[in-house]
Amino acid sequence: MIEQRELKENFRCVECGDLYEVVYPSWSAGMAQIRKPNASALRWLWKERCSSSAEADESGVWRFREMLHFLRDNANIVSLREGNTPLYQLRKVAEATGIEQLYAKHQGMNPTGSFKDTGMTTALSVAHELGFDWVACASTGNTSAAMAAYAARAGMRSLVLIPEGKIAWGKLSQAMDYGALTLQLRTDFDGCVRVLSEVVKRAPVYLLNSVNPYRLEGQKTPALEMAEAFEWEVPDHLIVPGGNLANSSALGKAFLEMKHLGVTDRLPRISVIQAEGANPLYRSILENEGETLQPVEAHTRASAIRIGSPASWKKAVRVIQQTGGYCEQVSEAEIALAKAEIGEEGIGCEPASAVTLAGLKKLIQQGKVRSDERVVLLLTGHTLKDSDYTIAYHRGDLLKAEEIDGLRPEIEITRRNAVELDASADQVLKELERATGR
Ligand code: F0G
Repeated sequence: MIEQRELKENFRCVECGDLYEVVYPSWSAGMAQIRKPNASALRWLWKERCSSSAEADESGVWRFREMLHFLRDNANIVSLREGNTPLYQLRKVAEATGIEQLYAKHQGMNPTGSFKDTGMTTALSVAHELGFDWVACASTGNTSAAMAAYAARAGMRSLVLIPEGKIAWGKLSQAMDYGALTLQLRTDFDGCVRVLSEVVKRAPVYLLNSVNPYRLEGQKTPALEMAEAFEWEVPDHLIVPGGNLANSSALGKAFLEMKHLGVTDRLPRISVIQAEGANPLYRSILENEGETLQPVEAHTRASAIRIGSPASWKKAVRVIQQTGGYCEQVSEAEIALAKAEIGEEGIGCEPASAVTLAGLKKLIQQGKVRSDERVVLLLTGHTLKDSDYTIAYHRGDLLKAEEIDGLRPEIEITRRNAVELDASADQVLKELERATGR
């Protein structure tokens, strides 16, 4: 067990090089002395806080603060009222896939438009409590947007390292707007991580990448919200995108802790889906059951998960194994089609989030998901983060002909290009008639 102030700047153990994890001595799984709380009192308290207007209670992260016990003083909480995100039923996709109880937990409905806010409120609050002036991260875009916003709220400075030309404009614009020192490095995400790990050794900046274990604590809370929404029944299967692999690790930790505390009585399977061009975890599990991981050079248009050397891979392997989940990979065309299908439900997500639906289809084909199971897809980012991708898809400019092979009819049905017309009611009516007949 190690105290906050003793942690190294890069959050890695000096002896083994592995990442830390927050454990709660009185109740974490595997701890000798277990003082189990009253589960129904906790469930009642968490729900009751929804009617309070105190800042910490209005946050969908901090209302679960009994599961996030590491700040010395709650006055140091930095919050943008994150969490409490919607859980939508996906009716059309349910019909198409045959999974009747299919839901999307939309983490893109957080204050900066991605799931990163839930972990940023916790880790940045720790930085604030420790008295740091500067926080920093390497990012494919969403972490930097979240970090910059929370740092601004706390009156702190933020340093963002992003791969040049490889993040979506929506995300870059957020970091600029929230006042970050934004540096675009001529490398990829993994290169940015390498540079930053040296910077934190040489300057007093607090690292907010997901190697920071307090990030994962906040990212546990969507699991609590899901369980609460289902009256403390966990879903049968949760499907999550995999990039740096912190999110799957955090959600797995949450479900394990909830079960250990008696708040819930079983675990969902947790499956992780990667893009084919950024699939180091998929390969690791296929080739050696997750014993070792060989980094890859990552390529995918789902830029949020363009990551070849994921930091939290060991934690994610453990979660997949402990919950009986799977790891799958999906193609660029499968991702784009899945995103359009989710869009047809009136729900906008970014490409990296859509890997969940593409992965679900594969798992169904392989007989790994049954039609009577309750399945939740975790949508990690909002569609407006990367509208260039969406427009290119609908214009037919996104995918190359050879990528579409085998999915052309499905893709053509979902494409909706904008039609240019003269300012004439006749022409508009003609288009309306054509669309009605479709
Ligand atoms: N989905 C989105 C929208 C993301 O931004 C990320 C990661 C992931 C999925 C993957 O989650 O890394 O926990 O496996 N984005 C990071 C960033 C790396 O810098 O914003 P993960």
